[in-house]
Amino acid sequence: MDVEFLGSFTAETLPAPEYPEVAIGGRSNVGKSSFLNTLTGRRGMARVGSKPGMTRTINFFLCGERRILVDLPGYGYSRASRSEQARWAKDIEFYLTGRGNLKGIVLLGDLRHFPTASDTEALDWFLSLGIPLLVVLTKSDKLKAGEVKRRRSQVSGALKGKPIEFAVFSAKTGTGKKEVWGWIEKVMSG
Ligand code: GTP
Ligand code: MG
Repeated sequence: MDVEFLGSFTAETLPAPEYPEVAIGGRSNVGKSSFLNTLTGRRGMARVGSKPGMTRTINFFLCGERRILVDLPGYGYSRASRSEQARWAKDIEFYLTGRGNLKGIVLLGDLRHFPTASDTEALDWFLSLGIPLLVVLTKSDKLKAGEVKRRRSQVSGALKGKPIEFAVFSAKTGTGKKEVWGWIEKVMSG
């Protein structure tokens, strides 16, 4: 797939809506940028960090001919200054609430720990926007098959009754890639 980096933006500089967008949100260091790289098959596309706080702006990627994936800054990056954190929160909120072409949100969580308190907070916030939501539980390569199965049913229980789909993923092995693309295609065509 052709992937083109369209740029880094803040609330003030967001580009005009052009194609359907799906945004990728989640806690800092959970693996959002890695997810994007694996999904698009372009390893170095989004910057991956060994430390949290790698992505500090809203980054747009044109994937294929007419669809855009948006890498959001991670929330809960405690080493950033308060004013920086406030700015990212403002950028994210501005983007998520005023974007007519935003067709879906992917909330990334760590399969080993989901849902943390901040995951639940993000989940409720994203749900309140009324936009289709997919929870992607990443880093599944860090668990044995039996544990993945156990976590899967726990998460399924935790999300029961909520209009949320979820997929197990690994940026390392590519697990879940097809399923995630299926969801993206579905919400973008709707
Ligand atoms: P911020 O931009 O800081 O919010 O972080 P991010 O959510 O974009 O996380 P990033 O993709 O930079 O990854 C953080 C760390 O987790 C890096 O060291 C990645 O290599 C690692 N990582 C991400 N996804 C996976 C995965 O599926 N499996 C494993 N084993 N490591 C992963
Ligand atoms: Mg990132």
